[in-house]
Amino acid sequence: DSPGSAADRLLAWYDRSRRRLPWRSDPGECADPYHVWLSEIMLQQTTVATVGPYFQRFLEKWPTVEALAAAPLDDVLHAWAGLGYYARARNLHKCARTVASSHNGVFPDTEDALLTLPGIGRYTAAAVAAIAFGRRAVVVDGNVERVMARLFRVGEPLPDSKPALTALADKCTPTARAGDYAQAVMDVGATICTPKRPKCTICPIVDLCAGRDIAETLPARKPK
Ligand code: ADE
Repeated sequence: DSPGSAADRLLAWYDRSRRRLPWRSDPGECADPYHVWLSEIMLQQTTVATVGPYFQRFLEKWPTVEALAAAPLDDVLHAWAGLGYYARARNLHKCARTVASSHNGVFPDTEDALLTLPGIGRYTAAAVAAIAFGRRAVVVDGNVERVMARLFRVGEPLPDSKPALTALADKCTPTARAGDYAQAVMDVGATICTPKRPKCTICPIVDLCAGRDIAETLPARKPK
């Protein structure tokens, strides 16, 4: 019997069972904004397993955002090779130069200010604000959408259900430890609440889950 809100359960699960990933801090601590930003950009359309070695290599070559900003674009594109979507690498470099030249090499610490930077959209701004700065930001990626759709049994298909799923994610997000919470949902989504054959028997919030019996069918998706 484990009482508490979904957020409480997810945080307790994160403390025990989170994935140990190279860009993560210890639970309860904020991570380096440069590390969080770099990993989040790399993780767009690329798996955690692929990103790991690239992330480490980037940090060895360019330990700070100012070092990255000072690098020739060609060196950055070369180090990016294999991650795909070169526009991301160009924007990464542009963003590093903007942080270095217009922000004294310090990442801004609010979602709104982060959103003004090249290559930083809603998701990345929220992720960096929460994970690096401990701000209560609503972080919504595909994993979060799936967990919310199942937890609240949202039958409406994506993409129409996106606003509803975002509102549910907002409702669940705690004030304290928002960064750990966001990463807890991502980890549950990636390792337990998987698209196929979800492992409901080991899920820390299964007894709160309204969609458990039809989990694999959620979220529904409108044919394109
Ligand atoms: N996917 C994207 N960002 C992530 C993070 N911070 N932790 C785990 N998976 C992620």
